[in-house]
Amino acid sequence: MARVAVVTGAAGGLGRAISAQLIADGLHVVGLDIDAAGLASMAGTGFAGLVVDLTDAGAIAEAFGRIGKDHGGLDALVNNAGTCFMSDFPNIPASELERQMTINFSGAFHCCQAAIPLMAGRPGVRKIVNISSNGAYNFDVFDPPHYRASKAALDTLTKDLARRYAREKIAVNSIAPAMTQTPLFNVLTEDVLARAIAAMPHGHAMQPAEVAAWVGFLISAAGDISSGNVIILNQGRDVR
Ligand SMILES: NC(=O)c1ccc[n+]([C@@H]2O[C@H](COP(=O)([O-])OP(=O)(O)OC[C@H]3O[C@@H](n4cnc5c(N)ncnc54)[C@H](O)[C@@H]3O)[C@@H](O)[C@H]2O)c1
Repeated sequence: MARVAVVTGAAGGLGRAISAQLIADGLHVVGLDIDAAGLASMAGTGFAGLVVDLTDAGAIAEAFGRIGKDHGGLDALVNNAGTCFMSDFPNIPASELERQMTINFSGAFHCCQAAIPLMAGRPGVRKIVNISSNGAYNFDVFDPPHYRASKAALDTLTKDLARRYAREKIAVNSIAPAMTQTPLFNVLTEDVLARAIAAMPHGHAMQPAEVAAWVGFLISAAGDISSGNVIILNQGRDVR
């Protein structure tokens, strides 16, 4: 029986690459996204899409209930769904702050709450990978503070769950990428995007498949001995 993984934000740039990597590694992927057409375009062997608004805790509970019924449990969860709202401090509407935290942090929190009981009794080391961002750590680049804070909160959740579930053999890590070429680039002006890419040491953005390979590594047996880490991927940009 194939191991089962949930990938959130599966229809986005990174989500598609992560789903493809895990399918290639032999897992069955259940992709959660609000984008029904995007999920439908991914239909194929090893992939099933579930349309879920991850800002709705009830909808998340329902989706994982169904996954439990369909698959009898869960081996891996990738909390990848996220966005970056670009209003800058202090002119950030309360509704935008709330939505930023809900999509990037609360959604992942509720997915962990629903996923961990489904991991009980599954063989081997079960895996949670949270997709964070360099924006939580690098203050030279453009990221607005509510985006940074949402990812810092996610990384603290990573460490808490890693500690809490180490003896249950659930490994929890964050991957924090820098500029990766996905539709999320559209939130940036041309000027900001050009400067951010010019700051990448290799002279170009990272590709989704490059980041996905690290997710695949953590979910493979090689990743069994890593937990509680925030893995920064940025071509060495921020080494001082
Ligand atoms: N692209 C980058 O440079 C970069 C850098 C650092 C971190 N990240 C992180 O990577 C992750 C993936 O981003 P991406 O670059 O692939 O962006 P993307 O916009 O291509 O994909 C995001 C996906 O999340 C889904 N989504 C958004 N809100 C949702 C909701 N309420 N319910 C369900 N699904 C929802 C979208 O429909 C989309 O498919 C995000 O968490 C982002 O913060 C990206």
